[in-house]
Amino acid sequence: MGWSLARSLILGIDTSCDDTSASVVEGGVRIVSNVVSSQAEIHRRYGGIVPELASRRHIEMIWPVVEEALGAAGVRLEDLEGIAVCRGPGLIGSLLVGCSFAKAAAYTKGLPLVGVNHLEGHIFSVFLLEERPSYPFLTLIVSGGHTSLVRVDGFGSYRELGRTRDDAAGEAYDKVAKLLGLGYPGGPVIDALSGKGDPESIRFPRAFIPGTYDFSFSGLKTAVRNHIASALGADSGGPGAPSENPAVWDICASFQRAVVDVLVGKVEGAIRREGVRALTLSGGVAANRELRAAMKEMTDRLGVALYIPPAELCTDNAAMIAAAGHLHLLNGDTSGLDLSPAAYLPL
Ligand code: KG4
Ligand code: ZN
Repeated sequence: MGWSLARSLILGIDTSCDDTSASVVEGGVRIVSNVVSSQAEIHRRYGGIVPELASRRHIEMIWPVVEEALGAAGVRLEDLEGIAVCRGPGLIGSLLVGCSFAKAAAYTKGLPLVGVNHLEGHIFSVFLLEERPSYPFLTLIVSGGHTSLVRVDGFGSYRELGRTRDDAAGEAYDKVAKLLGLGYPGGPVIDALSGKGDPESIRFPRAFIPGTYDFSFSGLKTAVRNHIASALGADSGGPGAPSENPAVWDICASFQRAVVDVLVGKVEGAIRREGVRALTLSGGVAANRELRAAMKEMTDRLGVALYIPPAELCTDNAAMIAAAGHLHLLNGDTSGLDLSPAAYLPL
């Protein structure tokens, strides 16, 4: 197809979970606009995402969010060279909204359409940075839905070295925060309170599953639950907000240290074995300050380059979908109007 790529404008759309996002990216690398409408307020009272509420909210927000992204970029749908939409993995009802919208927009404007794997989007979020890794690199995707360590040898060439066998790291943060009465999402608040506590005060278990790069966080979550029951009692530590309780700070700091130890330890082992010279992080948990610092210390020690996007590109966003979509379109890889979302979608 007569596709001019260097300055091509791609509209990215992501509705895989609880954020409605649309973004215009130029040439696959320059973010012109990136709008994310969070649903955290809707799900907070339930302590986690309610899928039915998420898809209903996506239906309300998809057009306003796309309009805002186009408006901020100063372009119309007909000015675009293509539309990239996340087709999975994720919540099926949520994915359906983005895919249906993208197909309708591509059909009415006669634009190329491409469906993008959400994890591939996370991988290529680092291509939106000034400095990009060269292949091969390892990437750790750590979010509320995924904990996956992937070797990337080139666009389309991925090998998953390990993944979580139960909870995702972000899910563990959210569940521990719920147990402690700290609200949803749990990551940012545990990150903040950890700074006030002693990470050595409680020795929570670390699941270094031998002979694999897989992760497991459910045992840690159970250990935290048991500790809370014995140390704090049923009322999460008596009167006053839990966030004011020094015992809660210690639990947060010790839990976070256990998560970071495992993530850094497993990634270090994989870097040594695979012999790669670059590591990238993405996903909501990559916004965690202690994880970023510990990964930096480890990669500096090994002389390996570390790439971590800013927090707004670590969490779910459509710019990363546009960046990966650009690479697909470059390869002449487009989807038809029979594009359908998939809750489970391997890389
Ligand atoms: O990537 P993301 O926005 O959505 C998913 O695809 O899941 O990640 C959200 C997850 C939530 O579990 C949230 O608690 C966690 O990322 N998170 C953090 C931090 N900020 C967000 N976890 C640890 N530390 C943080 N600073
Ligand atoms: Zn994600």
